Amino acid sequence: MRLDIVTIFPEYLEPLNVSLVGKARARGQLDVRIHDLREWTHDKHHTVDDTPYGGGPGMVMKPEPWGEALDEILASGDGRPVMVVPTPSGAPFTQQLAVELSEAPWLVFTPARYEGIDRRVIEEYGDRLDVREVSIGDYVLAGGEAPVLVMVEAIARLLPGVLGNAASHQDDSFAPGAMADLLEGPVYTKPPEWRGRTIPEVLLSGHHGKIARWRRDEAFRRTDRNRPDLIERADPAAFDKKDREI
Ligand code: ADE
Repeated sequence: MRLDIVTIFPEYLEPLNVSLVGKARARGQLDVRIHDLREWTHDKHHTVDDTPYGGGPGMVMKPEPWGEALDEILASGDGRPVMVVPTPSGAPFTQQLAVELSEAPWLVFTPARYEGIDRRVIEEYGDRLDVREVSIGDYVLAGGEAPVLVMVEAIARLLPGVLGNAASHQDDSFAPGAMADLLEGPVYTKPPEWRGRTIPEVLLSGHHGKIARWRRDEAFRRTDRNRPDLIERADPAAFDKKDREI
């Protein structure tokens, strides 16, 4: 998968050299190209923003540098990328969207600072590309770079061969499948006793059916406590009689 990221803070994206994403890049599974938007400015001060039409606080990112940057990036590859525009006004970033984006061969991210990018840029590329305006949550950050780090990590771990054990994202919270509407329950490892605290007996039983039932009950309990909205929203058919007894 190829990822292009256009930003005025390339150094903000250095964490993409670390851990899972860094290793995927080193293995050639991810081709990440980070671009400094200011390279497509032509004035002495490398200006990327200006005051908003109609007045109001803050600054808006000028369309010209974005247009030149995106034209050059689009011309440098085959086919059409999906363009991901991080904005608190976007559609929610969900596991389902992460899965969908992980299936695209090429993504271009346009993290903005200030009050956002001149709307005409979104319209211009929306005519040619699949453009997704995406929010990572109901809060406002100072820019789209942190959301890009979040989205790239969520997407990269879904790519074939990136996670050591492919099964390990199958029972993630929010993953499609048997536990689709439930959060993941608690996990334990050795030692069997720590500070007087033991682990649930069933996990030592070797009885896979009982362990699966226990995991589902715990997942259900945790979801009910932390995210009751998920249970309310879920298809009742997704729950069996035993779930309802929790
Ligand atoms: N930019 C600023 N806040 C954001 C958010 N919550 N999601 C995506 N991009 C953003």
